[in-house]
Amino acid sequence: MNEKKEVGEKAVEYVKDGMVVGLGTGSTVFYTIMELGQLVQQGLSIKGVPTSEQTKQLAIELGIPLVSFNEIEQIDVAIDGADELDSELNLIKGGGGALLREKIIAAAAKTFIVVADSSKNVDTLGTFPLPIEVVPFGYEMTAKHIRKLGGSPKLRMKDGTPYRTDNGNYIIDSSFQEITQSRELEKSLNLIPGVVDNGLFVDMADIVITIKDKKLSTIVRS
Ligand code: 5RP
Repeated sequence: MNEKKEVGEKAVEYVKDGMVVGLGTGSTVFYTIMELGQLVQQGLSIKGVPTSEQTKQLAIELGIPLVSFNEIEQIDVAIDGADELDSELNLIKGGGGALLREKIIAAAAKTFIVVADSSKNVDTLGTFPLPIEVVPFGYEMTAKHIRKLGGSPKLRMKDGTPYRTDNGNYIIDSSFQEITQSRELEKSLNLIPGVVDNGLFVDMADIVITIKDKKLSTIVRS
């Protein structure tokens, strides 16, 4: 069973003609976007808002029309993956480095749908190092502040140089072992000068499509 494909394709059921759709980033939502591309070829009329340059490129290749923020009031549905997901539907995101645009788009969506294979389900968030987007200036000092909050910050590297997000920023990946106060940590991190945003998505997911006991499972926030 290709779990990513199963959950990714299932999410398409929530997309209706005429909708503005937030298009997430990663290998799970890839299947959603591929499916949407096929439906667009068959006549579905939607407009996409991509969460990364990578997704923008994919959408263009598939012929999914894109729309900019100044042309819309809100997004009808945003669909995206997750790196960790707890039973309260709180998430760690940003493994692919797109967390800032992903959060902006999720926050603008009437309905935010998360597609996650079974490996993403955890009892407590924090095993996956939390991605934190920081401005390059003074990032060493920003990292020290993150350490004071209990993190073990590590600058994300790519090909021997610091990884750059689509926004030109750095990512600090920081393990926190167990994140029991996700809302508090999300806020405390964002108060550090130099932090742009972090990958904790608290109380944002409306619907989660995942795999439990080898079966598709759709969880709706109550
Ligand atoms: C990118 C993300 C992705 O949604 C997350 O990393 C999950 O990716 P995948 O579906 O490839 O496992 O947050 O910034």
